[in-house]
Amino acid sequence: MVLRLRNVEKHYAVADQRIPALKGVTLELGRGEWLALVGRSGCGKTTLLNLAGAADLPTSGHVEIEGVRTTSLDDDALTELRRRRIGFVFQFLQLLPTLTAVENVELPLQLAGVRKPRARAVEMLEMVGIAELADRHPHQLSGGEMQRVAIARALVHEPSLLLADEPTGSLDDEAAESVIDLLLDMKKRLGTSILMATHSPEAAAASDRRLFLRDGKLAAEGSPGGT
Ligand SMILES: Nc1ncnc2c1ncn2[C@@H]1O[C@H](COP(=O)(O)OP(=O)(O)OP(=O)(O)O)[C@@H](O)[C@H]1O
Ligand SMILES: [Mg+2]
Repeated sequence: MVLRLRNVEKHYAVADQRIPALKGVTLELGRGEWLALVGRSGCGKTTLLNLAGAADLPTSGHVEIEGVRTTSLDDDALTELRRRRIGFVFQFLQLLPTLTAVENVELPLQLAGVRKPRARAVEMLEMVGIAELADRHPHQLSGGEMQRVAIARALVHEPSLLLADEPTGSLDDEAAESVIDLLLDMKKRLGTSILMATHSPEAAAASDRRLFLRDGKLAAEGSPGGT
C-alpha cells in the first residue's frame, strides 16, 4: 500500500474557533492505482491531499506513506519524505516564473541532490511531449503547456505518489483532456499511484476508483452521497 489513512481527523484553529475539516477518514491507495476524490467545494479535498503528502499532520488518526507514519517523523525527515516520495500538481500553476521550463523540471532533482539533472529533465519534457519548449519561461507558455511542465516536474524524481489538486481546473476541455491522457500515460509508464481531487466528471471517470467526500467524511464508494 502506498498510502493509508486511518480514522484521520483534521481540525483547523482560527482565532478561538475550531474548524473540523476531516472527520474520520479511512482510505487506502495501492501501488499504481489512480484514486479520484470528488465532492463539493469545502468538503476537505485539499486538506486530505496535504495530509497525504505530509505537508500537514492530522489532528488525530494516522497517515502512512509507504508504511511510514507521518506523525512519527521530525521536520527534516518529513521534508526528506516529501522530496523523495511525493509529487504535487496544483490547480493554479506553481512554476517559478524566473526559471525556464527545463529549469523548473530540474528543481526537484537538485533538491534531492542528483548531479547533472539537465539530461533527466529534458527526457521528462520529452515524455510529456513538450521538449521543444524547454527554454521558454512560464509566461511564454499556454495554460495546458504549463500544466505539462508542472506534471513533468512532479514526476521527474519518480515519486511513488502523485498528488494532484484540480489539475485540469484552469484548462479548457481540450487541454484538460490532454492532461488526463498524459496522467494515464504516465501512470502506465512509471507505475505512479495518483490521488487526485477534481470537480471534473471526465477526470474522475479516467481514474480507477472514485471516493466521494462530503462535509469531511467519505460517502459510500460509487455514489455521490447526496448533494
Ligand atoms: N488553513 C485553514 N485554516 C482554517 N480553515 C481552513 C484552512 N484550510 C481549509 N479550511 C477549511 O476547511 C474546510 C475544508 O477545506 P478544503 O480546502 O480542504 O476544501 P476543498 O474540498 O479542497 O474545497 P475546494 O473544492 O473549494 O478546493 C473548509 O471549511 C475550509 O474553509
Ligand atoms: Mg481544494
